[in-house]
Amino acid sequence: TVLILDFGSQYSHLITRRCREHNVYAELMPCTTKIKDIKFKPKGIILSGSPYSVYDKDSPHVDPAVFDLGIPILGICYGLQEIAWNLNGKVSPCDHREYGFSQLQVKKSDGGGASVDALFEGLGDEMQVWMSHGDQLSALPPDFHIIGYTQSAPYAAIAHNSKPLYGIQFHPEVTHSPRGKELIGRFVLGICGCRKNWTMEEFIGKEIARIREICGPKGRVIGAVSGGVDSTVAAKLMHEAIGDRFHAIMVDNGVLRMNEAQQVNDMLNKDLGVNLTVVDASDMFLSRLEGIEDPEQKRKIIGNTFINVFEAEAAKIEAAADDEEKRGAAAKGRVEWLLQGTLYPDVIESISFKGPSATIKTHHNSPLHHPLLTSDEVRALGRLLSIPAPLVQRHPFPGPGLAIRILGPVTRDQVKILQHADSIYIEEIRKAKLYDQISQAFAVLLPVRAVGVMGDQRTYEQVIALRAVQSEDFMTADWYVFPPEVLRRISSRITNEVAGINRVTYDISSKPPATVEWL
Ligand code: XMP
Repeated sequence: TVLILDFGSQYSHLITRRCREHNVYAELMPCTTKIKDIKFKPKGIILSGSPYSVYDKDSPHVDPAVFDLGIPILGICYGLQEIAWNLNGKVSPCDHREYGFSQLQVKKSDGGGASVDALFEGLGDEMQVWMSHGDQLSALPPDFHIIGYTQSAPYAAIAHNSKPLYGIQFHPEVTHSPRGKELIGRFVLGICGCRKNWTMEEFIGKEIARIREICGPKGRVIGAVSGGVDSTVAAKLMHEAIGDRFHAIMVDNGVLRMNEAQQVNDMLNKDLGVNLTVVDASDMFLSRLEGIEDPEQKRKIIGNTFINVFEAEAAKIEAAADDEEKRGAAAKGRVEWLLQGTLYPDVIESISFKGPSATIKTHHNSPLHHPLLTSDEVRALGRLLSIPAPLVQRHPFPGPGLAIRILGPVTRDQVKILQHADSIYIEEIRKAKLYDQISQAFAVLLPVRAVGVMGDQRTYEQVIALRAVQSEDFMTADWYVFPPEVLRRISSRITNEVAGINRVTYDISSKPPATVEWL
């Protein structure tokens, strides 16, 4: 196992991912974890990047005991600066924040121990790397060598003379560093000597065993499902582990995609055998959303109403379980756990608000958390768990649903119009066999009216905007280039079939500066 200490970088999860791609298990823990509290013996440690600067008053720091373990350590970006901060090097702010591609020159050490050149072994003399930093090293810590530099960063890669300590200023974990995965492989396999023994199949077995151990022989678990990949995979895993003692709840908030509640019910209940209750709370949601245009307010209303509805439903299940327990009737026990199906990106989003360690801690405190895979890995897991392919490949859908894709006030009629247009759009994308090439596609209902003509009559109706993007991680995204005939068919079908729409536009904005959603 490799231990990754997370200082709150948006890329930390990608480091664990790259390790797993080498079939090496990596565990991500908060950077403030005390070495004495770690229950396993890591073969190496990676220190992640961070939005902080090492000299900030409240910046996070690693337990200095890590440097006494004698195991290899690789510091990435802030991690490099953290090594320097601990071992008497010097870190200074750059004149300009460096963000983007850079060309790294690998420098063979002149002298030093055998381990000095180990990090770049077999990787050539030069490589393209991705930089994202505001500080950099301005003096080496004692006993360190420079092993790589770029035009603007003289200490872009360093290594200790005799100990397996390495620091790099760039980010090998992002795909913009094309040889970064190999570099991480050099570290975990070559330098740490980890064995390649992590596989998804074995992981499933271990997760099921872990869930059974946490839950014990009795006691129920409840969890929310949305119909998306993450919560479905989490639910299916729970079902495999404890069967009917797991109870899934799906809340129909009235702003789902067309026929979604029914489809989720069919799939989870009928195909996958998961114990599921669908609660139709659409009236409550839509009445609370009445007249609201502000997107953040829409999000808040939907989030709060969701909690109200979920809690009320959970209380019903708890009451029934308590009653059964009292009667001693083949008791599965009381409700004791809440399942959280969260992915890394969601954890990252909250970190940026709450500081590096706080959120991860709450996350680790909830023992039935999702195994923290990245979205591709969750899909691979879903396939192994026999979740139907169309669901596993499904584009993500935001929690606030169509409410943030109806740009004006949300009403049942507006929801119907958008559901209809969106379903035509997605159907045509699937027919053209383009669905899997696109990361996310959806329709947006604009709050303006445009003039049109139908027969001899002028019309004055609403506009649909189509969005389709390709993206690795949704932090950046490119708009998708459709074959024109596909757009033509979609537009003609929407304007002909969806009452109230006389115009369709296609969104050609990338993220940044636009976002994927319009609100
Ligand atoms: P943006 O619009 O931020 O979207 O570029 C990036 C990804 O996040 C999804 N998204 C949300 N998901 N609740 C969610 O659960 C939200 O409020 C929300 N806003 C955006 C969006 O669909 C895209 O996949």
